[in-house]
Amino acid sequence: MNAPLSAAVLKRIALLSATRHERFYTVAKLRSDPVYAAVTRELAGASLPVLDIGCGIGLLALYLRESGFTPAIAGFDYDVRKIASAQALVKRGGYEGLSYMNGDARTGLPDFSGNVVILDILQFFAPEEQASLLQAAASRVAQGGKLIIRTGLRDASLRFHITVAGDWLAKVTHWMKEGPVCYPDRALFESVLSAAGLRVRVQPLWGGTPFNNHLVVAERE
Ligand SMILES: C[S@@+](CC[C@H](N)C(=O)[O-])C[C@H]1O[C@@H](n2cnc3c(N)ncnc32)[C@H](O)[C@@H]1O
Repeated sequence: MNAPLSAAVLKRIALLSATRHERFYTVAKLRSDPVYAAVTRELAGASLPVLDIGCGIGLLALYLRESGFTPAIAGFDYDVRKIASAQALVKRGGYEGLSYMNGDARTGLPDFSGNVVILDILQFFAPEEQASLLQAAASRVAQGGKLIIRTGLRDASLRFHITVAGDWLAKVTHWMKEGPVCYPDRALFESVLSAAGLRVRVQPLWGGTPFNNHLVVAERE
């Protein structure tokens, strides 16, 4: 379940899209963003379900299913349009065991126990909101499960400045409802997630991108 998706599978997913814009975005994102394959590798062999916080239009769930990952996947996002798109993609594709909920991660998360994924949303949160989201997410990681996070890390690199510019571009083009508020640093993950009883590792996840993205994996052993 580690190989990237074939061109034929990408095309099949793209054809599920309702609009040309969504089709173009879906293919470009699934083809170029290294995060989906990285999460798939981290979840290889897992039997616990997945909660995807800030799931967007649900691309991770489609990537996991097409990679042979069979446990249930629940997506959670505060953007009603994206949740509707995710539900429509699942319906058109006939995928089983994928569900989507609308809600704001600042005010609470659904009841859940398993693996938890958070991709690219922490920068929209104030520092105290980041810490409480990490605590809430960690409390939903079951024994043997993982909390998998992709985030831009705040540091002095050029990559960091390009990451900030990219997020503002997403805001001005209306792809994102909000601009970035604060990028977390490595120490936040190490302190909050260790205190929650998880073993934490942080590694660069640059792929072919200019962004300062990192993968944070916290395991409950
Ligand atoms: C950059 S997108 C990432 C989408 C998805 N995780 C992916 O990688 O394909 C960030 C997502 O987080 C969602 N989001 C931002 N703040 C949120 C919040 N407070 N509660 C729930 N979702 C949020 C946005 O609506 C958006 O879909």
